[in-house]
Amino acid sequence: MKVFGGSAFWLEGMLSVQDYFKPQPNQVIVGSTLKSGTTWLKALTFAIMTRSHVGESTNPLLTRLPHDCVPFIEVELCSSPQKLNLEVPLVATHIPYTSLPKSIINSSCKIVYICRDPKDVFVSLWHFRHKMNPKDMEDHPLEDAFECFCQGLTPCGPYWDHLLGYWRASLESPEKILFLKYENLKNETTYWVKKMAQFMGYPFSLEEEHRGVVQKIIDLCSFENLSSLKVNKSGIVRLEIGITQVGVNTLELKNNAFFRKGMVGDWKNLLTPEMAMRLDQITEQKLIGSGLTL
Ligand code: A3P
Repeated sequence: MKVFGGSAFWLEGMLSVQDYFKPQPNQVIVGSTLKSGTTWLKALTFAIMTRSHVGESTNPLLTRLPHDCVPFIEVELCSSPQKLNLEVPLVATHIPYTSLPKSIINSSCKIVYICRDPKDVFVSLWHFRHKMNPKDMEDHPLEDAFECFCQGLTPCGPYWDHLLGYWRASLESPEKILFLKYENLKNETTYWVKKMAQFMGYPFSLEEEHRGVVQKIIDLCSFENLSSLKVNKSGIVRLEIGITQVGVNTLELKNNAFFRKGMVGDWKNLLTPEMAMRLDQITEQKLIGSGLTL
């Protein structure tokens, strides 16, 4: 059975990260698996980190896709080990916790991880794949893709293992890993954005709070705002996904593929009650005894 939504370049990138990646001591890493809210979290962490030296009207998030502001280490290092040249000490990764290099695990850098209801993750991945490659529909009918997801045949490994790796590490080292849920970030955005800023070492001062800086960041990074920006509506991102004998392999994606609905519970529009129940049962079994609920 094929991996749903997958390609070897994630694996190549992960190996490059293990060989070459050396984090800066004050680096913050955005961790997630596919379609869990990475784009949103990249935007929020970037806006939090750069707020003291970037003007409101000149914020790069207004003219660049959040993925261009905060690179994935496995994508950047896959095409060129020397390439990671950062404007701000902020990077992202989809690599499972257990496969992170020791250079990260033993470093003082902090990880902000986001997870999401797997039913919404699967549905989001399904739509994303079809935007990337409509031919996928033929290769992967819904039932087939669903079976792959349930069996853990997805690019960053089984969904539940991914989040449990970071969850357990966050319990062991809460000062190093902040574990977020997409649904909580949606429902209590202000609380979690402040918590994130504090955790990252960029807390909001009272004066900033009074000036409405927290709300401005939330508004800048909201689904409604980001998805309506010209760059995110019509731009294109070219990912260098590996080097072959004939040159660099690139993958072209429309930026709007990263902004679909941004809702909690959209799975109801695609999954049958049986499919939803199956995913809920797997989630319950996998998370049993972990203290984590979704
Ligand atoms: P849907 O497909 O359910 O709409 P990732 O960024 O990890 O690829 O996840 C993509 C999901 O996050 C998509 O979910 C997308 O619409 C949603 N998303 C993107 N930007 C967002 C934002 N600013 N706020 C909330 N959700 C957002």
